[in-house]
Parts: sequence; C-alpha cells; structure tokens
Amino acid sequence: MEDYYKEQGLLQPHLPKIPAQRILAGQAALVTGANSGIGRAVAEALAEAGAHVAVNYVVGPESAEEAAKAARAFGVKAITVQADVSDEAQVQAMFRKVVAEFGALDILVNNAGLQADAAFDAMTLAQWNKVLGVNLTGQFLCAREAVRQFKLQGVRPELSCCAGKILCMSSVHETIPWAGHVNYAASKGGVMMMMKSISQEVAQHRIRVNAIAPGAIRTPINTQAWSTPEAYNALMKLVPYKRIGEAVEIGRAAVWLLSDYSDYVNGTTLFVDGGMTLYPGFEAGG
Ligand code: BGC
Repeated sequence: MEDYYKEQGLLQPHLPKIPAQRILAGQAALVTGANSGIGRAVAEALAEAGAHVAVNYVVGPESAEEAAKAARAFGVKAITVQADVSDEAQVQAMFRKVVAEFGALDILVNNAGLQADAAFDAMTLAQWNKVLGVNLTGQFLCAREAVRQFKLQGVRPELSCCAGKILCMSSVHETIPWAGHVNYAASKGGVMMMMKSISQEVAQHRIRVNAIAPGAIRTPINTQAWSTPEAYNALMKLVPYKRIGEAVEIGRAAVWLLSDYSDYVNGTTLFVDGGMTLYPGFEAGG
C-alpha cells in the first residue's frame, strides 16, 4: 500500500522539515491517550520542543513505554501513567502521580478519544455512553484536575507567561454533522462548547484553553478511510488540499498552541484539516 501511495504521489514527501525549537523547555505535560495515533505524535512533538511528558494510556503498557522512550530521545523526562479518563478516581490518581514525578504541571493535552460507530437507530446506549464518557466526560475530568493544579501553582515566569495551558483534541466533527457517528459528533460538539466555556471562566487566572480540530489524519482510528486506493480516492473528495494529514502535523500545531507564541489565543479551535471544513462540494463552483 505504501508503494501505491508513493506511485500516486499521495505520500507527503514534501511534508516540511522544520528544525525543532525548544519553546516548551522545562515544562511538564500530560498527554492522554498518548500511546498511539495523534496522542503519540503530540507527546513526541512536545518532547522535541523541550517539555517533560507523561504518556497516559488505558491499555497497552508496551506501546506507552515506546512512546515514552521516543520522547526521552529528545533529552527530556518521560513517564507512563495508566488511567481510564472516564473514571474520576483514576484521573485524580493520575494527576497525583504526574505532579509527584515532575513536581508541577504546565500543560494538559486532552487527547484520549474513540469511536463506536453505528447507524443511529441501531446505536446502543452502551455505544453512546462509551463515546461520551471518554471523549467528553474524560476531557471534563482531566481539565478540572489541571485547572485545580494550575491555580495552586500560579504563573512561573521562568517557564511561561501563563499559569497553564489546556489543549482539547476536538475534530472537524465539532462542526460537520456525521451520519453513522452521532455519538462521536455529539461528543466533539460538546468538547467545543466545553472548551470555550472553561476558557471564558479561567482566562482571568492566566490559564489558556484551546482546541485543535483535526480532519482526516492517517491513524489507526480511521484506517478504513485511507488503507485502500478506493477509500483514499473517496476521501480526497472531502479534502480540498488533496492529501491525508499526518499525525506529526497535529503535533506541530499543538506545540505552537501550547507555547507563549500563542499567548493571546484563548478559547479558539484551530482547524488542521486540509480544508475539509470549506464545503469541498463547492470546489468547482457549485
Ligand atoms: C475521525 C476520523 C475521520 C476524521 C474526518 C476524525 O475526527 O476520528 O475517523 O476520518 O474525523 O472525518
């Protein structure tokens, strides 16, 4: 399949090489769901930017350790921490562990998320609750602990001009309705409004809360959308930029959004989607 993509020019040989800048040096970050996909790429990008990283996972300690090892290669500290983000006690224990290890917390990346797709009239309550539990309640529980910690710490000017940063991983489906994925789209719409409301409430404490809305990014969550030529070609009808995104590109956006370069950015969703939200059906004029 890789060969097919190369032949078709669908891979990203032109993905820009950008020299690492240590713009998060010495800050402590927790990334949920960091043992695969976008979470892992974000954890690595933060490490490359100089942050110490706690890699949260729920299953798969080996993959979490691999992610931590990749982070350590950038000369930072990295630990793994197991917790189901939809479980209040586990989330609180996770924050205690991370703060004990790093002595503080500067960054939360609320990334853990999943899909449990079904036609609407066949969707079970368990599928609904699972997706809302992880994708929305999980982000609430983690954000609440992070805000509590940031308020305790206050601003530490030697590290950053604000007291803490939260990045919520949303999706283009915070705004694009998604048939067959009602639970997922509802969870991401919820993330958007939760993120904005938290930001409005805590900005006065110099805490910044923002989101990234990835479009189609090549990860295990959407393999069926890119792993055959037919699927890939169908996907491209939805992407004006005519290529799939790579997880590292979300990592790069995250570094900027979590650094002081974006200090005046509050309560915003940054779409990283190759134009998926630009009504691609109209690209030939409609
Ligand atoms: C979903 C992917 C999907 C993408 C674009 C993401 O939020 O998790 O499965 O490919 O949105 O539709």
